[in-house]
Amino acid sequence: MDEVPGAQFVRGDARLPTTQAAVVRTLGAEADVVLSDLAPNTLSDPGVSHLRSVELARAALAGARSVLRNGGTLVCKVFAGKEEPAFRKEVQECFLDVRAYKPKACRKGSVEHYIVAKGFVPDQLRGGLNDEEQVENCSIFEDELRPGESEVVVVRDGALVERKNSFG
Ligand SMILES: C[S@@+](CC[C@H](N)C(=O)[O-])C[C@H]1O[C@@H](n2cnc3c(N)ncnc32)[C@H](O)[C@@H]1O
Repeated sequence: MDEVPGAQFVRGDARLPTTQAAVVRTLGAEADVVLSDLAPNTLSDPGVSHLRSVELARAALAGARSVLRNGGTLVCKVFAGKEEPAFRKEVQECFLDVRAYKPKACRKGSVEHYIVAKGFVPDQLRGGLNDEEQVENCSIFEDELRPGESEVVVVRDGALVERKNSFG
């Protein structure tokens, strides 16, 4: 592949921790966005392609968890199928806002679509909060708060389910 000015290239199997570690090393900082267009070869059985697609989407999620900044975004391709609800639940455990989009560019009848997950909450911040805990002036979103503004974060089963802003 020709060199892309301003881009750095890491070649490897995205499912391997060694590849993900190489991406973290190369980046040398936290990322705002992880964008994954990973997809399996679709020549195999559709059920098998679906399972392989979810495996790749899980690799993208694992990569996002190791490199995204607090509040960052993950966009990843996944083929629809029976494993997808479980995958979406895993994404919801780490992000505040998770939606599925099918761009117009996707072929009609194609199973592929994208999960768009915003508001990443790093593992160490989620792990430190108890069920049903309400945290005021939560440091997770401190950088988004203006003076006098506070934030209440509601956590259930280790996942953030609600954030409420209060002004003044
Ligand atoms: C839909 S294509 C991506 C096309 C790309 N966005 C482009 O515009 O050229 C899916 C890509 O995922 C790659 N891929 C599949 N499994 C992978 C894996 N385990 N690790 C890294 N890449 C993988 C394939 O080689 C293929 O290039």
